[in-house]
Amino acid sequence: MTPGIKIAPSILGADFGGLMADIKRVEQFSDFLHMDIMDGHFVPNISFGPGVVRSLKDRISLPFDVHLMVDRPQDWIDEFAEIGPDWIVFHMEAAVHADRLVDSIHQKGIKAGIALNPATPEAVLEYVFSKLDMVLVMTVNPGFGGQSLITGVLPKIRAIREKANKLNPDLDIAVDGGINEKTAATVVDAGANVLIMGSAAFKAKDPGVLIQNIRANKNMA
Ligand code: DX5
Ligand code: ZN
Repeated sequence: MTPGIKIAPSILGADFGGLMADIKRVEQFSDFLHMDIMDGHFVPNISFGPGVVRSLKDRISLPFDVHLMVDRPQDWIDEFAEIGPDWIVFHMEAAVHADRLVDSIHQKGIKAGIALNPATPEAVLEYVFSKLDMVLVMTVNPGFGGQSLITGVLPKIRAIREKANKLNPDLDIAVDGGINEKTAATVVDAGANVLIMGSAAFKAKDPGVLIQNIRANKNMA
């Protein structure tokens, strides 16, 4: 049993010069917003920091997750937690004490997720799997919007869903990178239920129609 489909536009795909206007275009059709924090070390790009997230929190009505694409995620949990996101997601590749980080996020009353780069196997989640609220599977190499989905990652999504069926049935499995009307079917079929979309959501002529089509399973094989 896969939890229901959730659509999460990634604001990295928005026009930062008109960020709120862009968010307004997608807000009513979406389940939550996805915010990418990039530090120029863990990924070769810099996005935005807690100040921007704090300002947005006061202006949006949707839940949101913070995707920490940073080295030393332990240095940032407190500051982002204090803003009040619904999820904090950190990368396993950057975490020395993953179990401790998950606990520290939960202690703040926030749902915890772990992200995996395309080349990181799902086996690294073994000893923390049952306590996770979300696994975020990177379907592109992280750092930039507008890339194409790496189909080699699909078996990993399947393996995580199979494991979740046994050990953690409410687990959200998010996919991030190259998700659009064409690729959504494939990742949902593999077991993903959270579709994070940057370019597709913000560059759509009519985001309402796009998201409705995805939810209605149109174009899904
Ligand atoms: C990529 C980010 C994504 C990004 C996805 O490193 O984590 O959230 O916004 O962008 P698209 O959907 O354009 O691939
Ligand atoms: Zn992301």
